[in-house]
Amino acid sequence: MNWNPDEHYKNRQVANEYDRRRFSSMAGRIFNYLEKRKVTRCFASVPKDSRIADAPCGTGRLAEPLLQAGYRVHGLDISGEMLDVARRRLDRFGDRFTCEVRDVKTTRPSEPQFDAALCARVLMHFPLEQQIEFLSGVASVSRSTVVINHSLDSAYQRLRRQIKRWLGHQPSVNHPITNAQIKHLLRQSGLRQVRRYRLFSLVSEAVYIVAEPLRISAATRDGRIASK
Ligand SMILES: C[S@@+](CC[C@H](N)C(=O)[O-])C[C@H]1O[C@@H](n2cnc3c(N)ncnc32)[C@H](O)[C@@H]1O
Repeated sequence: MNWNPDEHYKNRQVANEYDRRRFSSMAGRIFNYLEKRKVTRCFASVPKDSRIADAPCGTGRLAEPLLQAGYRVHGLDISGEMLDVARRRLDRFGDRFTCEVRDVKTTRPSEPQFDAALCARVLMHFPLEQQIEFLSGVASVSRSTVVINHSLDSAYQRLRRQIKRWLGHQPSVNHPITNAQIKHLLRQSGLRQVRRYRLFSLVSEAVYIVAEPLRISAATRDGRIASK
């Protein structure tokens, strides 16, 4: 499929229809509801009122439950059109929600500007090398927790995808990854897995990973050694 996620969403109609096309069916509504709960749960150890970077923010779908949970959110996205939808949706949160157009793949600030970060529903659209560029950008803006979601490529999920193809369904993502590749992706992006969650593992590839920067793991380990 010749589909470029860096460009596809820079279109007003695509942006305005994003939520309705994906999440208005009964299954879509249930999945959306459970995913929002799962993502909020992934941030349970992050103090309320922390500033979370949502990268990419898209239409603010997942920024909304984080704002409702008491966090401040700054959305980053390469598409101004998607962010226009997010601004309208999240207007009621006033200055607790801010956003800016930014290419996350090339973002490397000298200091992290946010307490934590979310990276949802984007990595699986890129080949692994570009996933590393993207996630490195996300990791570079966060001082601590980074929550990502991905599509798991296991023997069971490959069989499920094959059956879906036989039934005439399009595979939903181009680049699901194996557990070994997840480890590689995290490490190359300067992260380490702390916890992971699944959502409907029999019928969905979705995996939610709570990660932390390797520099924090190293500092905790050194602190433990020093205090012995
Ligand atoms: C499928 S949407 C997901 C949005 C949101 N995280 C969600 O879960 O609803 C993917 C988003 O990634 C954004 N995107 C693609 N490439 C990007 C890049 N290089 N930098 C920042 N955002 C990018 C797109 O503009 C789009 O809004």
